[in-house]
Amino acid sequence: MVQAPMAGGATPPAFIVACMRHGLLGSLGAAYLSPEAMKAQVEEIAAATAAPLNINLFLPCGQPPAEGVVEGMLVHLAPLHEAAGLPPPHLPDPPEQDFTAQLAMLRRLRPRIASFVFGCPDAGMVAALKAEGILVIGAATHLEEARRVAASGVDAVVAQGGEAGAHRATFIGSFEDGLVPLRELLPQMVSALDIPVIAAGGLMSGGDIRAALEAGAALAQIGTALLRADECGIPQAHKDALAAGAAAGATTRLIRHWSGRAARGLANGFTRGIDAAGIAIPPFPLQNAMTQALRGHGRKTGDADMLALWCGTGYSGARAAPLADIVSRLCADAGFPSQNH
Ligand SMILES: Cc1cc2nc3c(=O)[nH]c(=O)nc-3n(C[C@H](O)[C@H](O)[C@H](O)COP(=O)(O)O)c2cc1C
Repeated sequence: MVQAPMAGGATPPAFIVACMRHGLLGSLGAAYLSPEAMKAQVEEIAAATAAPLNINLFLPCGQPPAEGVVEGMLVHLAPLHEAAGLPPPHLPDPPEQDFTAQLAMLRRLRPRIASFVFGCPDAGMVAALKAEGILVIGAATHLEEARRVAASGVDAVVAQGGEAGAHRATFIGSFEDGLVPLRELLPQMVSALDIPVIAAGGLMSGGDIRAALEAGAALAQIGTALLRADECGIPQAHKDALAAGAAAGATTRLIRHWSGRAARGLANGFTRGIDAAGIAIPPFPLQNAMTQALRGHGRKTGDADMLALWCGTGYSGARAAPLADIVSRLCADAGFPSQNH
């Protein structure tokens, strides 16, 4: 099993180390980290365990905003900032971490594995990483993307089913085109590619994991099933919102409101406010940068209307328990030996 990379605070080093100690491949979702923060977190993990680590980055995918869209969003955000006691909203410059600097740090840190989402990794970058002894993983949401990613020379591809929590990896066609259920996507990718396929999306039980492996997946990547673990770094208000949503039967949806890029999660006051205003949303990473202050406020105050409530379609099956309990139940139900290190 792979502990899914989950950027944005869900996976502090202690969480990753706990996953590794229970036999999962640990993944550092480093997309929002500066090179210095990446280094500090990797060193903290390496001080605790010698198990192999996957460092995950977002490939640059920004597009220019349509005229007036950023300004319109700043007008919408202004009263929310005022109510929260925050300084007026602005567009941070630069709006995202510098990918070239992050990649340079990744190469210095030399993890066993590097994984990339939101595009097709450049073949030259893949070759350079592989020459340094780093295994490279890409991600796809439909077969055309999978073939393109495989042709870049990567060692494995994540099949991200439409069920998966948070951002869609889609980079060809619309996000809606990329919503292929894992049970359809996985066999397509397994038969079309000659490299290992990692199943992701909606794997909530040992039975789900077993079925993915039987359908030809080399590994099963688990995100949402770990979100309510005691050690997981999402705010308690996010964990509580998942429990409340499950009790109310709320369904997940594709949400562009927080980052400008489609991501699966639960609607809340913030997303409904934008819907009601009917305004256009600036593209990733601009919207992500502009909503950062509100999300920070939500994290600080425990206001679930000011948090990006990412989760996959299976979120009602996420258990609130110590990570060890969650992983050992998944292992037992999948028929794996439990591995504690
Ligand atoms: C809170 C959260 C954050 C995520 N962040 C990332 C990320 O930074 N990089 C990435 O490749 N995938 C990210 N994902 C997607 C996971 O890697 C994986 O595809 C997904 O969690 C699997 O589906 P599941 O959530 O149904 O288990 C994230 C998922 C969640 C729930």
